[in-house]
Amino acid sequence: DTIVNDYGNVRVTEDSEDRIALDAAFKADAIRQFERLRKKGPVHPVTLSSGLPGWLVVSYAAAREALTHPALGNHPAPAIATLEAAGYVTHHDDVNGGHMLASDPPNHTRLRRLVAGAFTTKRVQELRQRIEEIANSLIDSWPSSGQVDLVSEFTAPLPVTVIAELIGVPEHHRNEFRKLTGDALAVGTPQSEPAFMQLRALLTGLIDEKSKNPEDDLTSALIAARDDDDSRLSDQELLSMLQLLLIAGHETTVNLMGNAIMALMCHPDQLEILRNEPVLIASAAEEFLRYDSPLELSTLRFAAEDLKIGGTLIEKGSIVVVALASANRDVPVPGSGVPGTLDVTRKASRHLAFGHGIHHCLGAPLARLEFGVAMEILLRRLQHLELAVPYDEIDWISKGIMRGALKIPVRYRK
Ligand code: HEM
Repeated sequence: DTIVNDYGNVRVTEDSEDRIALDAAFKADAIRQFERLRKKGPVHPVTLSSGLPGWLVVSYAAAREALTHPALGNHPAPAIATLEAAGYVTHHDDVNGGHMLASDPPNHTRLRRLVAGAFTTKRVQELRQRIEEIANSLIDSWPSSGQVDLVSEFTAPLPVTVIAELIGVPEHHRNEFRKLTGDALAVGTPQSEPAFMQLRALLTGLIDEKSKNPEDDLTSALIAARDDDDSRLSDQELLSMLQLLLIAGHETTVNLMGNAIMALMCHPDQLEILRNEPVLIASAAEEFLRYDSPLELSTLRFAAEDLKIGGTLIEKGSIVVVALASANRDVPVPGSGVPGTLDVTRKASRHLAFGHGIHHCLGAPLARLEFGVAMEILLRRLQHLELAVPYDEIDWISKGIMRGALKIPVRYRK
């Protein structure tokens, strides 16, 4: 089953000369490809892997327009006939699609309010000390100098452990949870689907357990959440929400840290600035989000009526994808700088890396906290850090909506 609106499962391939292939080759060279496209225009025709036509939005202005257009929704209803004709299974009301990122108002408003009420600033801030402990213990486990893959030894285990903590996965299930999450997120591999099923079973067990014995964790808070009119999340919505938090909150954070570390290793002057002034690290998160956006593309949008984006006619039922990583290289930056350069001291507050409009990332405060704490520890504890392979030889994620390296081999000295 291909679930169209599943976060992380958008594939766009080429089928004709004038349609653009967002295939592995494109993704490996995405920043340059986006630049080339922006020179030609704000919106371009693409073909989804199913053979369905869609539109790719690459300019900053058109991206904002698309992300706030009232007739461009996240629920696939307007495109269902086309999608099903092309062989997609659009059981969007099941556990994969019943979450807020795949819904429109008023349902989105209700889901978001219930979840936001439980996902409080206090709950996020309480994780600070645990993030410090996790980051330190990962680095403790390395020899005093040598070579490591930063993805498997640092950027990947950190966020998944934090989410496990946040949602209250008990200690004896943590390793299984980490393994299943890793496998499930490797969309397209044979282990992905079975891992998803097992993960769902684990999360269902967690919901059962927390319903009987509530504790101070997000799952218990979500179970207890009530709206003004006393409406609550159904069991299916709860499961769907936990699954969304995992998918939305894991690989994005992995790639924010990974892309930032690579950017720093390619810009030693910027690394030096952060080493000399670690207080800048937290605010530099915005510049890294902008410069090398972890979510290269938005999730899918569906046109409920004929409309225009960037002056281009988009017909009712069409699919639209926003290239966030492209818009962020087109965003006006403060001062005299240009968006193509990395400047860790600039206030890059207008980027779209967390989206824009009603679906703006709910986990942004957590992502910022994790980044600030983990990067500060990494840079403080590693006296020396350099890429162990040339940047050009880095293997990038080859499909889906994420942008990040599969492995980041580095030489380091503590
Ligand atoms: C939505 C990016 C971390 C939870 C989004 C969207 C983006 C995004 C771009 C909107 C997608 C769209 O409109 O198609 C990121 C990045 C992250 C990150 C770059 C890390 C650097 C997290 C974390 C969590 C999270 C840590 C939670 C644990 C969510 C949720 C939504 C969302 C629940 C859906 C909000 C809605 O539909 O109203 N994120 N995210 N994200 N994100 Fe994040």
